[in-house]
Amino acid sequence: MTAVPDRASGMRALWSAADYHRIAVRDAYVSELLVRAVDVHPGERVLDVAAGSGNTAIAAARRGADVTATDIVSSALETAVHRAAVDGLDLWMEIADAQHLPFPDRSFHAVLSTFGVIYAPDHQRTADELVRVCRPGGRIGLANWTPTGLVGKLHALMTEAVTAPPAAAKAPCGPATLWGTEGHCRELFGNRVELTTTVRVHELCALTGETQVELLLKYMPPWRGAYNAMPPGQQRAVFDAAVAEFDRANRAQDGTSIAAAEYLEVVATVK
Ligand SMILES: C[S@@+](CC[C@H](N)C(=O)[O-])C[C@H]1O[C@@H](n2cnc3c(N)ncnc32)[C@H](O)[C@@H]1O
Repeated sequence: MTAVPDRASGMRALWSAADYHRIAVRDAYVSELLVRAVDVHPGERVLDVAAGSGNTAIAAARRGADVTATDIVSSALETAVHRAAVDGLDLWMEIADAQHLPFPDRSFHAVLSTFGVIYAPDHQRTADELVRVCRPGGRIGLANWTPTGLVGKLHALMTEAVTAPPAAAKAPCGPATLWGTEGHCRELFGNRVELTTTVRVHELCALTGETQVELLLKYMPPWRGAYNAMPPGQQRAVFDAAVAEFDRANRAQDGTSIAAAEYLEVVATVK
């Protein structure tokens, strides 16, 4: 394992503020679809960037790939390695900023990220790194929240509510959900890839809309920090607005919450 570069310390503090794994366990299905879409083969070298607790890395390892999981938060990667080990799977872990991947050019057959690289502040630099470490003919696979879906709307709600976001949360290239638009991805990757996109709908399930919001505000690290810093009146308004978004997306008729959360699945084959 390499040391975390100083330039990542602000982002690392931001993302270490809560145990995102408590949310990630609900998204394993997205990772399974992604490794299928990218057609990960046994024996291929696969990189999961901003892997967190390893949903996508583990899904790729289940297909027999030789997987490296990277993130800026070491405790998340340790959870990933532990989860894999429980299933009898090996994972390599490496602490790494998505904007500065510590791998030689053309190292991997497939480079993946589920709701991960979208949070690195410099979108172009990140896209360039994904292309650089992927072999010609290799595939980049991303799952990115769309700006118009439920999670995109929650991102907008939180961004509007925070007047002074921490420096590490500011993205010079625009919001994370820009990655959820095909146009932005085409602009970032340019003619270096053949790109296809599919709009998919994930389902977020909880007993009630209120439980959904409580989970996000407790375990989505940047949102937890922002919410805890708000005065009580603003907290109430943000909480209620978030519940209203979940209610609008809810298809359950029995008082529970099964909310549609749209995302863009991106598969880019490197030329
Ligand atoms: C929403 S979580 C998704 C984690 C995981 N991919 C999953 O599907 O559960 C976002 C992850 O991105 C990581 N992250 C944020 N900025 C990063 C950066 N610049 N480089 C690498 N990882 C980063 C966070 O530490 C966190 O684990």
